[in-house]
Formats: sequence, C-alpha cells, structure tokens
Amino acid sequence: MTSAPPQIPAGVDLADELSALTVPYPAVPELLQLADRLTDEQRATVLQGRDFLAGEFGNLGYLNLAEKVPIPADGSVFGRLGYVLMFVSALPAVREFHRERGIDDAQSRLILSDLGRHASVYQTRYGINGFAEPSWMELHFTGKIYQLGRLQYERGLASAEVAEAATAAGLPLDQGQPVLSLHIPRYQGPLSAVAVDESIDRAREFFTEHFPEERYPVAICTSWLLDPQLAEHLGAQANIPQFASRFQLVGEPTVDRTSALEFTFDQPDLPLEQLPQRSRLERAVVQVLRCGGSWHSATGWFAWYQEA
Ligand SMILES: CC(C)(COP(=O)(O)OP(=O)(O)OC[C@H]1O[C@@H](n2cnc3c(N)ncnc32)[C@H](O)[C@@H]1OP(=O)(O)O)[C@@H](O)C(=O)NCCC(=O)NCCS
Repeated sequence: MTSAPPQIPAGVDLADELSALTVPYPAVPELLQLADRLTDEQRATVLQGRDFLAGEFGNLGYLNLAEKVPIPADGSVFGRLGYVLMFVSALPAVREFHRERGIDDAQSRLILSDLGRHASVYQTRYGINGFAEPSWMELHFTGKIYQLGRLQYERGLASAEVAEAATAAGLPLDQGQPVLSLHIPRYQGPLSAVAVDESIDRAREFFTEHFPEERYPVAICTSWLLDPQLAEHLGAQANIPQFASRFQLVGEPTVDRTSALEFTFDQPDLPLEQLPQRSRLERAVVQVLRCGGSWHSATGWFAWYQEA
C-alpha cells in the first residue's frame, strides 16, 4: 500500500525542491528545521495559502496573497521563511498547469527559480535568510509569468489608461483585456538591444504556442527604468534609455524613490552618503536625491503583434 504524499514537503524531498528553486544553500537547514517544527497554526496557514493559489489559475487579476493569507514579517523564522514553504507546497499544482499547457520542465524550473533569486536578494540586503515577495511570486505559482531570455512576461490585464492610449493610437483595447507585462529580472546580464530583441522574438512564439486562445494587443511595462530622467544622466545610447524608448508612455510618471534605490543598490537602506558610487547609474541616483530631486516609475506600451 502506498502512503499519501506529505502535504508539506520535509526532509530530503524539501531540500531537493529548494535546490531546484535555487534557494540559497545557507537557508536550507533553517527551512528543514522549520518544516519539522511547524505549529498547527503555521501548518494551517501554509496549506491555506497553497489551496488559495490552487483556486486562482486563470485569474489574471492581482491576487494579493500577502493580504489573503498573511504571514507577519515579525522577524521569527516562520515570518522570514513561511512563504517559501507555502510556495514549495504549491509546486505540484503549478507544475501540472505547466504540463497541461505544453510548457517543458526546463522552462517550468526556470521561472519558478525566481523564488531563489528573491531569497538571494533578501539575504544580500539583510544578511539573514528570508524571503519578502509573496505578492510577486503569486504570479509564478498561478502560471501567469514566464522567463524568455533576458525578460520575464506576465499575462496581465489592461488598465483603463493603457486601453485608452492604445485605442487612441489605432489598436482597439478594452480595460481588463489581456496584455503582456514585461519585467526585467536582476542577475540576468546587461539589457542590450540584442538580448531584448531575442527575448521578445522568443516570447512572441512562446505565447502563441502555449496560450493560443489569449490575444495581447499590446505589451506594457511599469518600471523605474522608464523614468525619462535616466536618459539625461546615462545618455540616450545607454541600454536603459534604449529599452525605455521602445515604449510610448501613458500618463505622468509617479514619484518612486524606493525602486531606483532598491534596484541600483544591494543595500538600499544605507544613508545616501554611504552608497557606492562606482557606476554612472549609482552616481546619478544619489546625486538627484541629494539635490532634492525625485526618481519616478512610469508605464509605457508598444504593439505586441508585428504587421505581416
Ligand atoms: C536593467 C539593467 C540590467 C541595466 O543594466 P545595463 O544594461 O548595464 O544598463 P546601462 O547600459 O544603461 O547602464 C548605464 C550605466 O549604469 C550602470 N548600471 C546599470 N544598472 C546598474 C545597477 N543595477 N547597479 C549599478 N549600476 C548600474 C552601468 O554599469 C553603466 O555605468 P558605467 O558605464 O559607469 O559602468 C540593470 O540596471 C539591472 O540589472 N537592474 C536590476 C533589475 C531592474 O531594475 N528591474 C526593473 C524592475 S522594475
């Protein structure tokens, strides 16, 4: 007689899964210990999150896992690593979804390993094991986001602002219709035009093959990399402004100090005068803030389908 699989992986099975997700090795012993010592309440929370995610495949809206199934970041081991156990428990459902969509194991592993990327960011920033991005990883564990080369692509929904701008430009688009939202992961090399072109070509094929019933009139991006000020500081030919120039901006950029600091510096909480000043970007981010200026986040779009 075979026994039922454990509801929350533990022991070597958990270690294997964490390794496939590229969770940094120093976090593994703490996670194994946590899985062995979960209280009934913690176990219920992990399973509640797993079941919540399982019910949201097909929902392209924002799920807000952090609010639906909160794990307070109280500095405890469970507060730092509880969501990692939740996502590991949710692996069978997302793998099944990928299989049903014909997405191969290598591609499936690649996108899910973003969990390890964010555990590494936490480790670098705070010097301890942890993970603080449940509302980001909910995209991965409900089959919404994929990594093709340099960029990641999220199956998302058009905002009113984007729908209005695209429609006015001759691409009819309703609010709430599917769009592809582009994301630029860390640790994936320069944002060169060649890498971006190759990625977009691959993504056009990928989504046509695996999500043939979905049509995305436009690709969008909401990012600090689209702040028009960056071209002034880096020069229009640098990779970041070149990437931004692919998009037509909608609305006004909104003030966003956090993104510029977080994505430029490993330890963004240091006082400005202690931040490293090695590259043009590092110098620009600090200089603008020291002079009382602001950094921004902006949204832009371009037509996803090429004319025949
Ligand atoms: C997006 C990214 C790949 C661009 O890097 P890139 O291709 O080197 O960009 P550019 O060629 O435009 O860089 C121009 C200058 O800024 C520097 N620079 C770019 N990104 C940097 C970063 N994250 N940290 C420090 N310096 C950076 C470059 O070294 C170069 O300066 P230099 O000539 O003095 O060496 C890089 O910024 C990155 O990995 N960012 C983190 C991910 C991110 O921001 N995602 C968006 C989330 S919304």
